[in-house]
Amino acid sequence: MIISNKLADIPESYFGKTMGRHIEHGPLPLINMAVGIPDGQTPQGIIDHFAQALQLPENQKYGAFHGKDSFKQAIVDFYQRQYNVTLDKDDEVCILYGTKNGLVALPTCIVNPGDYVMLPDPGYTDYLAGVLLADAKPIPLNLEPPHYLPDWSTVNRETLLKTKLIYLTYPNNPTGSTATQQVFDEAIDNIYGTNTKIVHDFAYGAFGFDAKNPSILASKHGKDVAIEIYSLSKGYNMSGFRVGFAVGNKDMIQALKKYQTHTNAGMFGALQDAATYALNHYDDFLIQQSDTFRQRRNYFEAQLAQAGLPYVHSKGGIYSWLHTPPGFDSERFEQFLVTEKSILVAPGIPFGNNGKHYVRISLALDEQQLSEAAQRLSDIAYLYQK
Ligand SMILES: Cc1ncc(COP(=O)(O)O)c(C=O)c1O
Repeated sequence: MIISNKLADIPESYFGKTMGRHIEHGPLPLINMAVGIPDGQTPQGIIDHFAQALQLPENQKYGAFHGKDSFKQAIVDFYQRQYNVTLDKDDEVCILYGTKNGLVALPTCIVNPGDYVMLPDPGYTDYLAGVLLADAKPIPLNLEPPHYLPDWSTVNRETLLKTKLIYLTYPNNPTGSTATQQVFDEAIDNIYGTNTKIVHDFAYGAFGFDAKNPSILASKHGKDVAIEIYSLSKGYNMSGFRVGFAVGNKDMIQALKKYQTHTNAGMFGALQDAATYALNHYDDFLIQQSDTFRQRRNYFEAQLAQAGLPYVHSKGGIYSWLHTPPGFDSERFEQFLVTEKSILVAPGIPFGNNGKHYVRISLALDEQQLSEAAQRLSDIAYLYQK
């Protein structure tokens, strides 16, 4: 076998394995509720600006390693406007070719072999590979229903002291839970003065249904201990573009930037121009996105409630988190739904052990499909009555 021992030991990526596969389903037309991105298109103005940027000779060549000043300035302005957080564009901003890249690279940049890294359980699946690539040890940070927030009183103090990095993500994929500023204040209080750092993955930052989602950097000492990673994929419907950024703690940002000088050669200039245009002109679009998903959440949860299905109330993001019926684990229920109801969902288990009895249902569907899906799910309410 040519594959290295280290890579061979990393479990298959769940979404790498399943995305785009042929789905064997029941007789009804398939409704795909496993998708992880909003269903809308990139706003036309961003595409037009991208097309113009393609014509610029400066964008045909290698650009500055750490990005154009105009892009970094747009990031700084965006954070000031949206979160009232002031950033230094040279020391506190690192542009990323898709945030997955930064999230997976981070442990290699800032932790040493054997160090502990705490991962939310349930939480986004791709953090784990980054920890294993760094020869660090993943430790679950248990998140419990209904709020799925860390309870620091249950985290062993010795374990915390050996932990060099904690991943947090709110709105949470897969549960739809959100954080208040106080949640971040408490997380920071817990580790302030130690060597532990926090990365807050803000991929669904735009989607807050009951309140605007806070930035961890707006908490006291936020920038002393944390970075935040912001993606343009979900809010701006730009997942195909592959663009995002990390902001916050200088030392963490410098480490990421050093890593990039060895693994990247600057981001495509036209992409930076498109992202700059998005950040500078589409604040209203982010509000619309959140409104759309709030309406869908309201509708879908009302349907589930009427049928008596045990979902977790979602406060942000683009998903619904549904408990499995008695006798079903997440994978068995996923199989049942696809063969009996032709509904594809994501099983909860790839998101961590606490996902074992849940499935993640994406709300990135138009009204008609959502209503059809709600109807099909209501038809299986009897499974929960056993
Ligand atoms: C929680 C979370 N973080 C990060 C990402 C990665 O997004 P991207 O690499 O497109 O910025 C995703 C994508 O699904 C996600 O759900």
